[in-house]
Amino acid sequence: MKLAWAVEIAGTGASVPEQVVTNEDFARRLDTSDEWIVQRTGIRERRIVGPNESTLRLATEAGRGALASAGVTPDQIDLIICATITPEHILPATSCELQHALGCHPVVPAFDLQAACSGFIYGVITAAQYVITGMAHNVLVVGVECLTRITDMEDRSTAVLFGDGAGAAIVRASRDPQRSLLAGRLGTDGSRAMLIWVPAGGSREPASARTVAERLHYMRMRGREVYKFAVTKMEEIIAGTVADAGLTVDDLALVVPHQSNLRIINSACRRLGVPQEKVVINIERYGNTSAASVPVALHEAWEEGRIKPGDYVLLVAIGGGLTWATALLRV
Ligand SMILES: CC(C)(COP(=O)(O)OP(=O)(O)OC[C@H]1O[C@@H](n2cnc3c(N)ncnc32)[C@H](O)[C@@H]1OP(=O)(O)O)[C@@H](O)C(=O)NCCC(=O)NCCS
Repeated sequence: MKLAWAVEIAGTGASVPEQVVTNEDFARRLDTSDEWIVQRTGIRERRIVGPNESTLRLATEAGRGALASAGVTPDQIDLIICATITPEHILPATSCELQHALGCHPVVPAFDLQAACSGFIYGVITAAQYVITGMAHNVLVVGVECLTRITDMEDRSTAVLFGDGAGAAIVRASRDPQRSLLAGRLGTDGSRAMLIWVPAGGSREPASARTVAERLHYMRMRGREVYKFAVTKMEEIIAGTVADAGLTVDDLALVVPHQSNLRIINSACRRLGVPQEKVVINIERYGNTSAASVPVALHEAWEEGRIKPGDYVLLVAIGGGLTWATALLRV
């Protein structure tokens, strides 16, 4: 996809739970170690929701932040897209609850989008279509997860990987044609759907005392296979998106990747020749927060002054589905 109209990310926000869980905390009760986790993933600690926190609360805080930074009031929002695999409830969509929580007009369309770790970028590209066609002017896109609510904390192969958080952005028509989303790619390979999945709790196998006893309501992942796919796909879609926009990888000022595994990010970026200082990394503090990962990293990069006017910034993610997504912005 190459856009003919100027669409921008006008502001961002983020929210993470207060509670920090370190690798040492896991090592005290599981057969794992700080050394294994850091070496294999880059993660040192993650944020975990407490009993009074949930997806809606994190999404609301991140949404408020994005509204404030874009200078947009809740009544100016005319579409809400919430990307999550851990909604507040199975029904209604978290985006509906979010509309009310933020004080947006009680007529504004709102829907959830399920594309796992690629969800936020899927949301941004979807929002851009609404802006381009004139169906919406100010779209709130949120990526939010409480992944620890569907993580088996007794399973060392997944427990140490995931964390909770939310990030948000306002997508709208750009007032400066130089400042725009330039290109983006969305993709899915459903033949790999069962590499990351939650066996029970859906219509195929509804929740029951048996599924809970067998821990089938928790996420399962065939990590090594996802890893191999992600390294190759990340390299391919970064190169492809940059080419779609008529640029080269050297033109990029910053890459904001999904924080799944430091080795995946480093390996793809090394093969493409993107130097480390141009890559946003915060996995050591948050782990893998799926749909929240890219918008939290983007928000932090903006807050830290790592993004300057005129920069080419590339967002990239690969996740459950398997799905993948990129968005190349001139900011
Ligand atoms: C999950 C991941 C970190 C595992 O790293 P890996 O190098 O592939 O490790 P493996 O799964 O091959 O396991 C190697 C060994 O470590 C063990 N191990 C797994 N988790 C462990 C842990 N937390 N602590 C210590 N040992 C662990 C395994 O049991 C295995 O032991 P074995 O060789 O005796 O069977 C890695 O595969 C990964 O990041 N995958 C991609 C995840 C991803 O990108 N997800 C994105 C979508 S959400």
